[in-house]
Amino acid sequence: ETSELDKNDINSSPQREKWCGHEFLYKFQGFWFTKTYLEATKKVLETFKPLPGDVILASFPKTGTTWLKAILHSIIHPSPRHENHPLTLNHPHQLIRSLETNLYIEKWTELGGTGSTKTPEFPAVKDPKKARILATHLPYQILGDILSFSDCKIVYVTRNPKDTLVSLWHFVQKSSSAEKDPWEVEAAVDQFCRGVVPFGPYYDHVLAYWEQSLNRPGNVHFLTYEELKENPKFHVRKLGEFLRCPFDQSEDGEEKIEEIVKMCSFESLSSQQVNKSNELPGVFPLPYSSFFRKGEVGDHKNYLEDKMIAKIDGITRKKFSRQWFYV
Ligand code: A3P
Repeated sequence: ETSELDKNDINSSPQREKWCGHEFLYKFQGFWFTKTYLEATKKVLETFKPLPGDVILASFPKTGTTWLKAILHSIIHPSPRHENHPLTLNHPHQLIRSLETNLYIEKWTELGGTGSTKTPEFPAVKDPKKARILATHLPYQILGDILSFSDCKIVYVTRNPKDTLVSLWHFVQKSSSAEKDPWEVEAAVDQFCRGVVPFGPYYDHVLAYWEQSLNRPGNVHFLTYEELKENPKFHVRKLGEFLRCPFDQSEDGEEKIEEIVKMCSFESLSSQQVNKSNELPGVFPLPYSSFFRKGEVGDHKNYLEDKMIAKIDGITRKKFSRQWFYV
């Protein structure tokens, strides 16, 4: 059965390239998508309208999305530590749904798949005093018109490109299709450098949100995985201010921040039973446990050869041309 997308875009567009595990990536508006994500992206563009109070967590894959989901949820829906804490009962991806993955691919499959003309609904605002939090990997170049139209708040997290790539490489290796056709490190470096990875190019993705954070600092908050690791309490406080859920300066405020940092740490989250599950969530091909691997800064040194590092650094220097940006 051929979907609308096959007919209109894929066959007529030669811009596709083989990725790992017999999968192809397709170029759409300057970015690369798997076929399923491309279809979901188009649905998002057709139908998503953010509300003024929404909080959008935007990120390139493998840059700290899961961690930030846990932190944002804890800031906006504070809960004392007990056995029924939301992060004990749910994987962060269950607490904060992703526009293109959970809201579209999963719902849409339920509604009858790619031939379906029905559109999944976005979650309703349950408590008008609380923000609705949604996540996305879509680049600003594609989602920006929709996002800037409303007064929503965007939190963007990024990470060292070499660690991001190594994290992605490990993640992809875990899929069953990669077993038959592994994604070799050389190919991964080459494709990452050319931008041919899901939601890539990484550099264009980061730069567009970075620019927005400079132009509209009240609406777009930009932070890095590394600075969050380095000084989590400081950044959780800053996030609280940005999201209009400030922590007070008293001991009580400090304790609340410490509690969030502890609860959302790699050690704490990765040891929760719910996050160790090997069940496949919905249509996603990998189990929730695969979102927790090592959670460290600089792990690329264990996997990339010097010449690969030099190649990525060369591009990073050119694209980012800012001292603090990862070279
Ligand atoms: P590694 O593969 O380097 O370990 P994403 O959530 O965007 O998919 O990113 C996944 C990466 O974030 C993985 O990196 C994962 O281990 C790490 N990660 C997940 N939870 C984390 C946490 N609470 N603190 C720090 N890193 C975390």
